[in-house]
Parts: sequence; C-alpha cells; structure tokens
Amino acid sequence: MSVTVRVPAKVNVQLAVGAARPDGFHDLANVFLAVGLHDEVTVTPADELRITCEGPDAGQVPLDRTNLAARAAIALAERRGIEPNVHIHIAKDIPVAGGMAGGSADGAGALLACDTLWGTAASRAELLAICAELGSDVPFSLVGGAALGVGRGERLTALETGGTFHWVFAMAERGLSTPAVFREFDRLAEGRDIPEPAASQELLDALAKGDPDALAAAVSNDLQPAALSLFPELSDTLAAGRAAGALAALVSGSGPTTAFLVRDPESAAKTADALRASGTCRTVRTATAPAPGATVTHHAPRA
Ligand code: C5P
Repeated sequence: MSVTVRVPAKVNVQLAVGAARPDGFHDLANVFLAVGLHDEVTVTPADELRITCEGPDAGQVPLDRTNLAARAAIALAERRGIEPNVHIHIAKDIPVAGGMAGGSADGAGALLACDTLWGTAASRAELLAICAELGSDVPFSLVGGAALGVGRGERLTALETGGTFHWVFAMAERGLSTPAVFREFDRLAEGRDIPEPAASQELLDALAKGDPDALAAAVSNDLQPAALSLFPELSDTLAAGRAAGALAALVSGSGPTTAFLVRDPESAAKTADALRASGTCRTVRTATAPAPGATVTHHAPRA
C-alpha cells in the first residue's frame, strides 16, 4: 500500500506585514497564489517513521523529526492514538529555503497522504487545524488556488481568479531563513509607524479578472526590503528580469527566490533565457498559476 500526494509551491502576490506581535509573529495580509511547481510526497507503511528525499536540493532537506512532513505524520497519529510508522519519501522540485513554501508543501502533502493511507478520515476542518499548528503557510499548501491569509497567514479565504497567470522564477545560489528575514524587517521598521496590514482591492480585482497588467501594477511584498538587505545581489536578478520585459519583478515571500510575472508563454521563455544568461541566479523555472492544492495522485496496494 502506498499513497502519493502532489503539492504546489506558492508565490505571494501581496505580502503586507504588520508590526511584531507579543508572540513574535507578525499579522499579515498575505495573498497567496499556488504555482505549478510541485513536490510529491509518498507514504508507505514501515516499522518506524523514516524520511527520504530526492531532487536537486535534497541534500539541504532535514531527514529527522524537524521536517514538517514528519511533524505532520506525528500530529495526525497523536490525534488518533496510533504510531506514525510510515516511510515518507519526498520528490522535491520546490526550492529549499526559497520563499516558495516548499517545507510547508511537504507538511500538507504528508498530512493528506497519511490520512489517506491510515483511513483516518480527518475532516477538511481538522486537516486545516493541523496544518495551522505546523506553520503559517501550511494551510495554503493544502488548499492551493488563490487565497487571502490573515492572522499569521493561516486564516484563509479563497479568492477568485479569472485566468491563468504566467510566471518565471529565479532560484538563488543560497537560501534565506524566514525568521531572519522577519527579524531584519523588524530592524528596518524600528522607530517607524507600521500600518495594519490590509489586502489591496486593486490586486484582488486583478486576480478576479485574470488581468496580468493590473496584477503587475498591484503586486507588493513588505518583506522585500529586508530580503534585499540580507541578500543585496537579488536586486541584480530583479533588474535582469525587468530588462527582459517582465511585467513585474518581486521577491517571493521571504525570498530569496525572485518571481517575474509575464504576459504569456512566449514572454516566459524569453525572460527565462535572459535570466539564465544574466548569471545572477542558480536555476530558472517557468510555471503557471493558479495550481490546485494538495491532491492524491496515487493510492494503490503494494505490487
Ligand atoms: O509559521 P512558520 O513556522 O512558518 O513561521 C516561521 C517564522 O517566520 C516564525 O518563527 C517567525 O519568525 C516568522 N513569521 C512571522 N510572522 C508570520 C509568519 C512567520 O514573524 N505571520
């Protein structure tokens, strides 16, 4: 018996960040868009909990119980009073520590896969509650599509999208730690008044219409100055994508992946070629959005 779940990456088309809360987290207005780059999480019964990972970034993935996929299996098993004895295999295509919710995707994927494997029949609400315990971005990895996240980003409202958006992503030479980027945000914010985060109506309208020009005019990321402060070379990557004709260039989430919104597949290919030739990034990928959330793609008895 094994179950495989496919889970998308995300880009934040708006990331409005409020002041640090007493618990250290920040209130957000976080507009998530799931993009067609995926990890695949496969679970198989085993004698004990074990994780393996394949893919270009596999060496950077922790294979112990700090991995969100392991934590997801443990959280569900604890709720049911069973042992989390499962082999979790992650086929990783989402960049690690890239600001595209790769770790969150593995958490949501492992949760859905274990629920299916064990027949634990968790409701959508219970799955979402476990996801929220695992991390702020994990609920979105489960639902996919487009959504506004408030609170830590975990309280989601689904958003309408009126068409397909074309993206190019440039992966950086090294990762950035999300807590470090939020700390840098706090440092840069010292002595300034931070407004309450709120979703931009222009941006929501642009998503609903499927209008890439309007979306490009409305995208924003309050973590971008902090990411650029910690990783100044990213501004060269952003400039290279803009010069190639991207409609918008921004840091994805806490970075360091940079995201380029383009009009159509032809512009995507042209922008991707220019970014590759620029020598300002490690790899370049194209993807469309929105993509569906975590989906069971294989559920079969062992051959
Ligand atoms: O929720 P998650 O574990 O993914 O968050 C990782 C880190 O990012 C937190 O420890 C915190 O430093 C920062 N964070 C934050 N405010 C949020 C979400 C994340 O400060 N809303």
